[in-house]
Amino acid sequence: MENIKLNNGVEIPMLGLGTYKIGNNDNDVYNAVRSALDIGYRHIDTATLYLNEKPVGKAIRESGIPREEIFVTTKLWGTDILNNQIQEAFEGSLQNMGLDYIDLYLIHWPVKGMIGSSWKEMEKIYHSKKIRAIGLSNHLIHHLKEVMEEATIIPVVNQIELHPYLIQQDVVEYCKKYNIIPQAWSPLGSSKVPLLKDEVLIWIGGKYGKSPAQVVLRWNIQKGIVAIPKSSSSERQAENFDIFDFELTQEEVQQIDDLDKSHRTGAHPDYIEF
Ligand SMILES: NC(=O)c1ccc[n+]([C@@H]2O[C@H](COP(=O)([O-])OP(=O)(O)OC[C@H]3O[C@@H](n4cnc5c(N)ncnc54)[C@H](OP(=O)(O)O)[C@@H]3O)[C@@H](O)[C@H]2O)c1
Repeated sequence: MENIKLNNGVEIPMLGLGTYKIGNNDNDVYNAVRSALDIGYRHIDTATLYLNEKPVGKAIRESGIPREEIFVTTKLWGTDILNNQIQEAFEGSLQNMGLDYIDLYLIHWPVKGMIGSSWKEMEKIYHSKKIRAIGLSNHLIHHLKEVMEEATIIPVVNQIELHPYLIQQDVVEYCKKYNIIPQAWSPLGSSKVPLLKDEVLIWIGGKYGKSPAQVVLRWNIQKGIVAIPKSSSSERQAENFDIFDFELTQEEVQQIDDLDKSHRTGAHPDYIEF
């Protein structure tokens, strides 16, 4: 596993386990997280919205792995911003997970008119010391600019939809300029686009004995982008984790960049509704 340093010095593993819709019930979620931790994952991504913070936290607590070796992210949902209950929402997540601290707390989506003020509340949480880093998700450049106008603490990451069919080069470049690490959600294109059947990815993978999923995840890491693929299956979790023993050439990275179609599978950050 490779780590990358956030702008406040905290290290984050380049590959994490996404947990959105990871199982049909708490038991499935628990087993999937335990399986990933057994494989070697040390970074787990959840959110209040996913309604699985309890089994995710339980799996982490019961894994036998020292807490400080696991990087845990959760996220603040828009209704909690609209209802002015950001501090309460954070405490709720902490309680759900049964953890003393969370590694990374993200604003899940920008809430129009409240972008700067919600960041100020995030800064207060950071000062409470119950968290190691604060960041953003789904912020486009104009949202990031609004945050930067208010910020005394620079966000450490911006977690956005990012895969070879939506490379979001402009947002990635803006983030890198301010030392904000881009994170890729739906790095495999979720199940909504046939990304993993793409001939370019199959062809590149063939050269290294790797699957299209492994090629895509490797592409992220080589570009300095943290990826959080979700899989409920321990076989596919292991496959997604097995990407640290090969390297794409610069030309291959460019070929994958060239697959971009600006194809969004999820909501557009300007039109999200809570
Ligand atoms: N910040 C945000 O707004 C936001 C939005 C969406 C998602 N996220 C986060 O990002 C994570 C990942 O995104 P995602 O779950 O939407 O999509 P994803 O990770 O791109 O794709 C997940 C899909 O790919 C399948 N899959 C996983 N590994 C595979 C492999 N090696 N070969 C073939 N298929 C494979 C999974 O099926 P199986 O489970 O059956 O393996 C599932 O159907 C989420 O779980 C969540 O933590 C964040």
